[in-house]
Amino acid sequence: MLTKTQIEQWLQQVQHPAKGDESIVALGMVSDIEVTEGSIHVTLAFPKRPDPLKNYLVGATQACLYRNAPGGTQISVDTVVKDPAKPAPKAPQFSLEQLREVRHIIGIASGKGGVGKSTVAVNLAVALAQEGYKVGLADADVYGPSVPTMTGTEDVTIEMVGADDEHTLFVPVEKYGVKWLSVGHVTTEGQALIWRGPMASTALKQIILQTQWGPLDYLLIDMPPGTGDIHISLIGDIPMTGAVIVTTPQEVALSDVLRGVNMFRNPQVAKPIYGLVENMAWFTPEAHPDEKYYLFGKDGGVHMAAKLDIPFLGQIPLVQGIREGADEGVPVVLNGDRPDAKAFLELARKLIETV
Ligand SMILES: Nc1ncnc2c1ncn2[C@@H]1O[C@H](COP(=O)(O)OP(=O)(O)OP(=O)(O)O)[C@@H](O)[C@H]1O
Ligand SMILES: [Mg+2]
Repeated sequence: MLTKTQIEQWLQQVQHPAKGDESIVALGMVSDIEVTEGSIHVTLAFPKRPDPLKNYLVGATQACLYRNAPGGTQISVDTVVKDPAKPAPKAPQFSLEQLREVRHIIGIASGKGGVGKSTVAVNLAVALAQEGYKVGLADADVYGPSVPTMTGTEDVTIEMVGADDEHTLFVPVEKYGVKWLSVGHVTTEGQALIWRGPMASTALKQIILQTQWGPLDYLLIDMPPGTGDIHISLIGDIPMTGAVIVTTPQEVALSDVLRGVNMFRNPQVAKPIYGLVENMAWFTPEAHPDEKYYLFGKDGGVHMAAKLDIPFLGQIPLVQGIREGADEGVPVVLNGDRPDAKAFLELARKLIETV
């Protein structure tokens, strides 16, 4: 179902040639929008003084609606005599300027917490950098930012650049060939955890949009666990190119994965899902690297991907070294010959191919 906001967005394409090509929306001429199943009705406001372009603007509005609405939608436009109201100033909007040179923005998400989303995101970022790409990672987990610990950057003081408060930018931390910035880098311990709703959303957007990323091939976003309002706002406002979903293999995780997938498939945002990563696919003891124990079932992620019709990107084993690497701030993928390091490298290659 279409929304008024969406229609208002379309109508920004209709410009008033006699008013410096400002859109009819910016000029406050869109007096009313009614949407019902299969029909759109727009009312344009014109001042008492005759506007010679009235017919032209009604026609242009109709054409714009026909161009954007699904075929078969009933479209009508009428007018009222009313001094156009200048729209109320909008809440401060972040600019997308800092993402101008970023080629791919990939959300790393999961339906539920604790499945290894951050571990996968951090190792994937380092693996992509090892493959020669320019990579950044924004840790958008306001409730439990773990990237500073996982990268051993918790004591780093973030530099700021910029002329004044409004234009100050964070400078990400560079380590292991990746640019990192976490909510945890810019807040004191515990502070992030008490954020709610709009404040959390604003903090997230700052981390992503007020940061000097520079040119990047991949910017990964470690999303907070779950599928709430914060996620919807994040996906709506950050121009992500697509998403990767992380899961463990248990059959009961399917409904969580489905919720994660639907969050991106929602027609309002409609972002491609690059694929599913199965973490903790099997357990391998450090002392017996050839053994595999399928603690949570075998190939659960492969089956889920097939069921949900999304690509399968790869399996990461459950090994002590991955957990230790995370706790010590040295991502395991840096130890090139280990089988788990290779699993992350393969994952990176598969993602590059898919994207
Ligand atoms: N493949 C793995 N092998 C061993 N330990 C792992 C593996 N993946 C994750 N872990 C460990 O499991 C714990 C949870 O992982 P992580 O923090 O990455 O999950 P998350 O999904 O980001 O959690 P949250 O929902 O809290 O953000 C961490 O201690 C991590 O080191
Ligand atoms: Mg996490």
